[in-house]
Amino acid sequence: MNPALAKNPNVALSKSGVKPFVVKPVKELHGQIHLPGDKSIAHRAIILSALVYGKTRIDNFPPNDDCLETISVFRKLGIKITKGNNIFVFGKGLTGFNKPKGPIFINESGTTLRLLLGVLSGQNFKTQIKAGKVLSRRPMARVTRPLRSMGALIRGKAGKWESGQMEEYPPIMVKGGVLKGITYELPVASAQVKSALLLAGLFAKEETKVIEPVKTRDHTERMLAVFKAAIKVKGNTITINGSRKLSSPGSIYVPGDISSAAFFLVAASFLPNSRIILKNVGLNPSRVGIIKVLKRMKANIKIRNYRSNGEPVADIEVKGSRLYATRIAKNEIPSLIDELPVLMVASSLAKGRTVIEGAQELRVKETDRINSMIENLVKMGAKITSSRKDVQENIAIEGVGCLQGANLKSYGDHRTAMSMIVAGIAAKGNSKIDDISCISKSFPGFIKSLNALKSKI
Ligand code: S3P
Repeated sequence: MNPALAKNPNVALSKSGVKPFVVKPVKELHGQIHLPGDKSIAHRAIILSALVYGKTRIDNFPPNDDCLETISVFRKLGIKITKGNNIFVFGKGLTGFNKPKGPIFINESGTTLRLLLGVLSGQNFKTQIKAGKVLSRRPMARVTRPLRSMGALIRGKAGKWESGQMEEYPPIMVKGGVLKGITYELPVASAQVKSALLLAGLFAKEETKVIEPVKTRDHTERMLAVFKAAIKVKGNTITINGSRKLSSPGSIYVPGDISSAAFFLVAASFLPNSRIILKNVGLNPSRVGIIKVLKRMKANIKIRNYRSNGEPVADIEVKGSRLYATRIAKNEIPSLIDELPVLMVASSLAKGRTVIEGAQELRVKETDRINSMIENLVKMGAKITSSRKDVQENIAIEGVGCLQGANLKSYGDHRTAMSMIVAGIAAKGNSKIDDISCISKSFPGFIKSLNALKSKI
């Protein structure tokens, strides 16, 4: 368990040896916190810094398990990366990597794996990538198929998805080289797949065009432009070619993670009399779905001190208020995909019936988040159901105004765990969550930040 969590007085050892976490109701939140750097941006900062010649400094790098995994992987590929107050990456150019000595173990970081596949597709050596138990069950064909059509040799473990459809899973063997550019229409809106293809596009002779059904987070595009890549964005089409030499901007600042801020945005919105300020949060337009939806729900949120340097950043002030139901349309989903679990909590506490349309991608995250959230919230007295028509899944949530404390499960998923802690602080009576060590995947300091806001009343 992460030391920050272990030190928490709410964590007591149960008979089974697993540490359940006790969540006590909280009346209001007050104070100001800084969020750790954005996980998505941090992965990309390491990757692009490794792909240019010379030194790049990364500021506000988040020390979570997934981002540390990306550092560890690029070290195994022969890139020197030093960690102190800031991170320094000593890149060796597009093809300066060393062939790793053995298989690369990537643990549970899906973003590291999918983006790395794009980079390794351009390397003229063979690498075997192994993953942790959970990631080894997540679908990879969405990224291996288009990379193969660019010319990479990729072999994953074949299997079938629940629908009976053929799938591919880690371990994955990849051998790359010079690739050919393709035009690819993404069948599923996925920033990870788009990013893998754009990174592979750096190694292609011709243009690579990626067309998105709905715009997803565009951190890769923004950062590639900062590193002087030949990239163009027109509507939902992104074009890249490997003709231009990349160069480092020298340093990159990683703004606070809006996906981590989301838990506090929701908690302070429904706890009356709360007033909190979240400092330096990344407000990339492709990520602000949570703010748009909460504002529609009549949350009291104000953006202050907005500034932009490649990625927009601002401070966010949130005050407690009454929340009302809303409809979340399917084309909004990519802008708040990781915030849906905590929005299900907010909707349970709102007045009226909220419908979330096209939430099916939640089934392929660290756990099936439709199941994990429904099972937990129903135990707390929420009225929440899912329905399916063809591939589209909708979630309907009847606001119940108040939740009851219950025995809950994290399902080993960081965002389910943090969402249920948020639900627990709004409930009547204590809740217990079986194991919250998974939180360190994205936000090891979550409990500390939450406690800081509780103690400042
Ligand atoms: C991410 C993209 C999203 C998101 C994940 C991070 C990224 O995944 O859920 O947490 O950094 O590109 P998908 O690309 O699978 O939608």
